[in-house]
Amino acid sequence: MNKKNKILAIDQGTTSTRSIVFNREIAALATARVEFQQHYPDHGWVEHDPIEIWSNVVSTAREAMEQVGGAEQIAAIGITNQRETIVVWDRKTGEPVHRAIVWQDRRTTAQCARMRQEGHEALVRERTGLLLDPYFSATKLAWILDNVPDARRRAEAGELACGTIDSFLLWRLTGGKVHATDITNASRTLLCNIHTGAWDDDLLNLFHIPRAILPRIQGNSEPFGETDPALFGHPIMVAGMAGDQNAALVGQACFEPGMVKATYGTGCFALLNTGERPVMSHNRMLTTIGYRIGETTTYALEGSIFVAGAAIRWLRDGLNLITHASQTDDMATRVPHSHGVYMVPGFVGLGAPHWDPDARGLICGLTLDATAAHIARAALESVAYQTLDLVGAMFEDGGGKLSALRVDGGMSVNDWFCQFLADMLQTPVERPRQVETTALGAAFLAGLAVGVWDSIPELAGTWTQGRLFEPGMPADQRDVLVQGWHQAVKRTLTSTV
Ligand code: G3P
Repeated sequence: MNKKNKILAIDQGTTSTRSIVFNREIAALATARVEFQQHYPDHGWVEHDPIEIWSNVVSTAREAMEQVGGAEQIAAIGITNQRETIVVWDRKTGEPVHRAIVWQDRRTTAQCARMRQEGHEALVRERTGLLLDPYFSATKLAWILDNVPDARRRAEAGELACGTIDSFLLWRLTGGKVHATDITNASRTLLCNIHTGAWDDDLLNLFHIPRAILPRIQGNSEPFGETDPALFGHPIMVAGMAGDQNAALVGQACFEPGMVKATYGTGCFALLNTGERPVMSHNRMLTTIGYRIGETTTYALEGSIFVAGAAIRWLRDGLNLITHASQTDDMATRVPHSHGVYMVPGFVGLGAPHWDPDARGLICGLTLDATAAHIARAALESVAYQTLDLVGAMFEDGGGKLSALRVDGGMSVNDWFCQFLADMLQTPVERPRQVETTALGAAFLAGLAVGVWDSIPELAGTWTQGRLFEPGMPADQRDVLVQGWHQAVKRTLTSTV
C-alpha cells in the first residue's frame, strides 16, 4: 500500500470545476469549487474558454491541497471531465486556437443530418457504438479546422494538437510534455473504434481529421505523466483519467454486469455495465466503453439526457423563479401534484432515446391557477420521466430487469426528486453516502494505479448506502402521469428517426 493515502481528484464539469482531496476511507477532506462562464455566441452554440478552465483547475487544486497540508501529501491526481467538448491548441505555445466547443453545441446539426442521409451512420454505429449527432466531438473538431484561418494546414503539418478537456488539462499540467487521452474520452469522439481501442482510419477519413492532431490513447488507471514541479511546488503523478460519467460508474462501484447508475449534473447520464462485451442497442442507446483497468475493457450501454440540472439552472437564471436550486424541493412539495403541467426540457434538442437535435423546450398544460411551484415541479418531474424512458430502453437492449438504480450528482440530494424517481421507475433508488461519486471515481482510478487501493473488490467494499427510496405510488396513478409525459414529448419532436 502507498504510504501517502490522499488523492486529488479534479472534476472539470460543464458549469463548474471542482478539486477534491479524498483519503482511503473515501472521506472528502478538502473541496474547492468555482463556476465559470458559458458563452453562447449564436443560436444553439455553446463555448467555453479553455484558459479560464485551466486557471480554475490550478486555483482549485492549489486551494484543496493547501487545506490538507500541501502537494507533498498527495499520492496521485485523478482527472475527470465533461466529455465530448473539444479543444484545439498550438503545440508550441499551448494557446488554444479557438474557444472549446461544448458537447451541448448544435452548430453541426445540418452536417450530421447530411451524413446520415448519405448513409454513413451504419459505419459510425458499428465502429464507435455512437450515432451521427452533433453531441459528439468529430464534427465540432472539423468545424474548428475549417473555420479557424490556416488551422487545417497547421493541423496536417503537426503544429496543432487537439483533445477533449482531460487531454488539454494533462498537456498543461505536464508542462506540454504529454499529449494523451483516456479510452473513455476517446470513445466519445466518433473517431475511436471501441472494439480495438484505437483511432480508426476510416472514421478519420470520413470526418476529415488528420491523425497528426490526435492524442495517444491510454487506459483509465495508469501513469499518464507528472505535473510540472513549478505548478504545485512538487511533482505529482496524474495516474487516472476518465470522462465524468464513466468516473461516476466507477465511483458508484458499478463493477458487475447489470449494475446501473444515473448521474444528475447539467445533463443526466445513465450507464449500465454490460461486462466485457459491447451490447449494440436497438433503441438508440449508446454503446460505449465503461472503463479500462489493466488489460480488461468493460463496456456500458448509455442513455444521455442533455438537460437535467440545466433545467433548474434555467428556472434560476432564465426565468428568475428561484434564487437557489435547493428551493425546488420546497416548491415541489408545496403543491399536491403537477396539475397537468409538463415541461419537456428540449433546450438543446433531445438526446436518447429520441435523438432529435431540432426539438426545443416546451411547457404545456397551463391553466390560470398554475403557479411557479407547478413549473418548478414539472422541471424536476421531467428529469425523472426522462430517466424512466432511458432505463426502459436500456434494459430492453441489455436484457434483464432493473433491480435498483444508484443515483448521484447535484439533483440526487433532493429527497422529493429521488422519491418521485423511484415511483416512476417502480424500482428502488439508492443514494450513496458519498454523492461526489464522479470525483471519487477519478480518485479511485488514480489511487488504484499507485497502490492507495489494491483491487476492484476493495473499491467496491467502500460503497455505503446513504438512503434508499422505495417506490410507493399506486400503479394506476403513475401510469396516468407517464402517459401525459409521453404526449407532451410527442409535441416537441420534429423527426421520428
Ligand atoms: O457527455 C457530457 C457529460 O460528460 C457532461 O457531464 O456532469 O458536466 O453534465 P456534466
